[in-house]
Formats: sequence, C-alpha cells, structure tokens
Amino acid sequence: MFTVNSVRLLSSIEDLGRIGFTEGSGISRVCLTQSDVAGKNFVYKLMQSAGLHTYFDEVANVVGILNATADVSPIFSGSHTDTVIGAGRLDGSYGVLAAIEAANSIRGQGVPVRRPLGVISFTNEEGVRFPPMIGSKYFTGESKLDDILQLRDASGVTVREALNGVGVRHETTKVMSKAVKGFLELHIEQGPILEEEHIQIGVVESIVGMRQFIISVQGSADHAGTTPMNLRKDALLVASQFIIAVHELRREIAIDGVVTVGKLEVKPNVANVVPALVNFSVDFRHKSNDVLAQLETRLNSLVEEFTTKTRLCISAKNHFRLPPVKLSSNIANLVEDCAKDLGLSSMRMQSGAGHDSMNVNKIAETGMIFVPSKGGKSHTPLEDTNSDDLVNGTNVLCNALVELLNSR
Ligand code: GLV
Ligand code: MN
Ligand code: MN
Repeated sequence: MFTVNSVRLLSSIEDLGRIGFTEGSGISRVCLTQSDVAGKNFVYKLMQSAGLHTYFDEVANVVGILNATADVSPIFSGSHTDTVIGAGRLDGSYGVLAAIEAANSIRGQGVPVRRPLGVISFTNEEGVRFPPMIGSKYFTGESKLDDILQLRDASGVTVREALNGVGVRHETTKVMSKAVKGFLELHIEQGPILEEEHIQIGVVESIVGMRQFIISVQGSADHAGTTPMNLRKDALLVASQFIIAVHELRREIAIDGVVTVGKLEVKPNVANVVPALVNFSVDFRHKSNDVLAQLETRLNSLVEEFTTKTRLCISAKNHFRLPPVKLSSNIANLVEDCAKDLGLSSMRMQSGAGHDSMNVNKIAETGMIFVPSKGGKSHTPLEDTNSDDLVNGTNVLCNALVELLNSR
C-alpha cells in the first residue's frame, strides 16, 4: 500500500486555512471574491510545484494534470476551495489538497500509472453568491458557458463581471480529448456519525437531493409608533409565521428530511419602521425526489394560503434543484478494500451535504470518501478533524486512485 507525505499534506491545509481567515469569524472565501481567488491561486501554485500540468478553465476551475500525454480517458479527483461565510478550513479544501498530495506522492514515488490523473478545484460549490456548483456543471457540460456567465448574484453582478473583476486568467488549454472515466472526491463527513460509531473511513453510497427557494414577502413600511396594529402590513411578522409553517410541513411529510431557513433579509431593517419587505431562503433536503417534489408543491400552496389570509404579496422562486444521487458501487467497493488493506475501519453511508460529485456522477463513475468531523461540526469555524484521520483519508484516496489509474 502507498502512503502520502503527511507533513506536506497537513502544512498545505494550514497554509490554505490562513487565506480569508479572520480571528473570531473563521474563513470566508465566497465565490469569486478576492479571498476566493487568493485560495485558487494558492492551489494553482501548489499544483505546479507538484509537477502537474496546471491551468484555469473558463469558469476559473483550477485543474492540474499528471501524466497528461497518456491518450486514454483520465481519472479525476478534487473538490472546492470556496467557502460559506464563517467556515472552517476543511470543507472542500481538504479534498483538493489531498488530491494534490496524492498526485505529488504518485509522481514522487514513481508509481506507474496508465491513465492521466486530473486534480480539480471546482468554482462555487457552496452557492453562497451564485446558484451552486457552476464549476462542476461546466466541467460536465451540463451547463453552457454563456448561461453560466450570465448568472447574477443578489446585487446584479454577473459571473462574467465577477470573473473579470477579480482578474482570473482564462486558459483554454485543452490538454485531454478523452471523456472522464472516473471521479473520486475525498471530504470531511460534516456530520456526527463516523465519530459516534468510532469508524475511520466513510464509504459514501448516495447523496440526498436538495431544493432551495427564495421566498419574498412584500408588506408596507409604516411608522412604528403611530400605525395601529390592525392597519399594518408587517412583512416580518408574516415571514415568521410562514417559517414556522414550513417547519411544520417538513415534520408532516418528510420526517426523515431536513429544512433550513438560514438567510433572512429585512427592509428597511430599522427599529422604528414596520418591516416592508422580507426575503428568506428555504432549503429542503431528502433522499427521495418524490418527497422533495411534494415539499415543493406544498410550499407553493402555503404561498397561496398566506397570500389569501394576510393580503400581502408573497412569492416563491426556485433557486436550484438537485435530485438525490446514487454513486458508483464499484468505486465504493474499491474504497472499502483500500481502507481494509490500510488497516482502517469503514462503514457505508449517505451524505446529507451536497457535493460536486452529484454532477460529475452524471458523466463518469463517481465515488466519495468521508473522514470523521469532530462533534459533527461543519459550516462553522468550529469544524475540525484529527490529523490522523486527515492522513488516513488521503492514504485511502491515493491507493484507490492508483487502482483506478491502472484500470482497463
Ligand atoms: C454544501 O456544502 C451544502 O450541502 O450546502
Ligand atoms: Mn464541501
Ligand atoms: Mn460546504
């Protein structure tokens, strides 16, 4: 079995973790901001120093290729380095840095490989600013470049403008003509199961589906002291009742699913003005697409009910839909075997978080490896994983990649 350079891996995690970090607030590298681009440039340089043929594609995915001249279909590995606001240093970044480390070790140890190995850091996995996963949707051909470039953030800035604004180099270097054969993404679990079960490696079999909406409640601004309660159109009061109703809906028809209202925008957001407008997000996740469809239908009914009941103008706009995904069982078996051969315990599991693997799975055999998250924490600066677990996951990734790279 091969083992990677653990010191080099852990120090690259520390180094990238300083980019976009503020004491007390964690890491913020929101898509195509200066800090996100600084993270991408860090990855670019690391890929170069690992001896990979490195470039930015048209949507600023960072790509590094080992054995680029082999004329057979490549294996890819990677994840993302954009983050939510107030993130830890591992979500996404771990999978990118581990894949670079695996490529570096394979090259440095002279391990023979038949196929090219592409390492990729996808643009905008998180979807904090633009709809999520545009990098992997471009990579797979699911979304056209022009459609991606026209997407707008909440302040009307397009992806094209954001790319130009931060000065990412576009390099159209087409180095491989063959279709992608396989994809393997290593990630922290972001939940409590592996830690609770004292298991070292998670073998991901499936990923839940997600649907996200923006609900808009339009009321009317009025004086907080002089407007009688019965004459108000208080958008925040109605939004609050709506949010409770959405949680009840989840309890009623998707008891094994989750719902989150995580983003709320209040206008004018002033203490002595009745709130005139509230926009908020609703994020549903469930393993069944039928249940997600039911949740969407019932959400639209709630909009109608609340409009009739309150006479406020309420609307729901879909932000994105991602169906649940079943990953490759061949790759799951391979990951399980590699963990066993390295003397590591493993278990099969489902991912409750979304990943670029959901998109790549549509064009190539795709698998995911999880390592434990301390206290199950993620999307918070408290996110953490033991160094041993980080190294174990990378060793499993490296060995599984070597098998895939030499497969027929
Ligand atoms: C991505 O991290 C998601 O699951 O929202
Ligand atoms: Mn992630
Ligand atoms: Mn995330």
